[in-house]
Amino acid sequence: MGVSMRFVCFLALLPALFFAGCSRQAPAAEGAPAALHEVALQPGGSAGSVPASGAGVASGAGGASGAGGASGDLPAAVAEDAAGYMGFFSTVLRAAELPQDLYLSILNSMTTSADFILDLMAIMEGDPSLWRLVDKDRSLPNGYSPGDLVELVGGSYSVSRPGLMLRRGAAASLEEMAAAARADGVTLVAASAYRSFQNQVQVHNHWVQVLGREEAERVSARPGHSEHQLGLALDFAPINTFFAQTREGVWLDANAARFGWSLSYPYGFEDVTGYSWEPWHFRYVGRELVAFINNHFDGIQQFALRFIYEWEKAAAGSPAGEAHGG
Ligand code: DAL
Ligand code: ZN
Repeated sequence: MGVSMRFVCFLALLPALFFAGCSRQAPAAEGAPAALHEVALQPGGSAGSVPASGAGVASGAGGASGAGGASGDLPAAVAEDAAGYMGFFSTVLRAAELPQDLYLSILNSMTTSADFILDLMAIMEGDPSLWRLVDKDRSLPNGYSPGDLVELVGGSYSVSRPGLMLRRGAAASLEEMAAAARADGVTLVAASAYRSFQNQVQVHNHWVQVLGREEAERVSARPGHSEHQLGLALDFAPINTFFAQTREGVWLDANAARFGWSLSYPYGFEDVTGYSWEPWHFRYVGRELVAFINNHFDGIQQFALRFIYEWEKAAAGSPAGEAHGG
C-alpha cells in the first residue's frame, strides 16, 4: 500500500510524545494546547513553534519537566518531525475535503489521544479493498472482478432471487449478522449484491431509460463506478426509501456496524456521496473500518474513505513518507 509501518508507527507515537505515553486515552494536560493544528497548518512549522502555540504540550506524564514544559522537553528533531507530520495530516484532511468542523475535530483529537492513528493502523492490517474508494470520481480498473465470490444461498437470511454473490468474507459476515437479526425476530432479505461491469451497464441503462440521465445519475452508478462491483455491497429488500421504516431497516440502522457494515449513501449527504439517500445499500468494510468511520468521521463512509485515499496518496509520494521508508 506504499505506506511503511515505520512511518505509521511514528505517527502513532505522536500524541503520546506530546502527552502521556502511548495510551489510547492519553489525558490532555492541564492548560493543554488550544490547538496544535494551528501550528501544523503553518507551512514549515518548526520545533520552536510547536510549544509556542501549545503551551504545556509536554507537561503530561511524557514530559520531562512537568508544568510549563518548553521546547526543550522534546528532542528538537522529534518536535520538528511532529510539527511536520501534523502539517502532513492537516494537508491530507484538507485534500479529503472534509467539512471544517470535522477537519478541526480530527486534528484536535490527534493532539489529545492516539486513537485516530491506532484505529487507522488497525484498518491497515486488513484487505485494502475494504477501504477502496469507488465513487463518481474514482472508478475500478477495467475488468475488475473480485476473486473470491460465493453465492448467497441463504441461511439466516433470505434471497429475493438465486445467483446473488458476495465476496467470501462479506457473505460470512452477512450470515452472522442475519443470525443476530433472526434472534431479534427480523429476517433480512438480500436483493442485489455483486454486479459485474456488464451487469452495471444494464442496470444503469435501465434507470436512464426510466428516469432520464440526470435523475438516473442520482440513484445509479455508471459502470465501473459502483460499489457493487467490489462484491462488498448489498442492497436489502425492499429497495425503497420506505426500507428505513421497516423492521429490517430499523434493525440494520442500529446493528449493522457491529458486524462491519456501513451505510454508503446516508440521508442528507447527496452533495458528498453523489447519490440520493439509499437506506438499503450497505457496504461490508469490516469492524475496524466501520468503527473508524463512526468514531472519527460522524458515520459518513465517504469522508473516511476519501481521507484514507488521500492519506495513502500523500504518504506514498511525500518526502515524509519516503523519509520513513515509504
Ligand atoms: N445505487 C448505487 C449508487 C449503485 O448503483 O452502485
Ligand atoms: Zn446498492
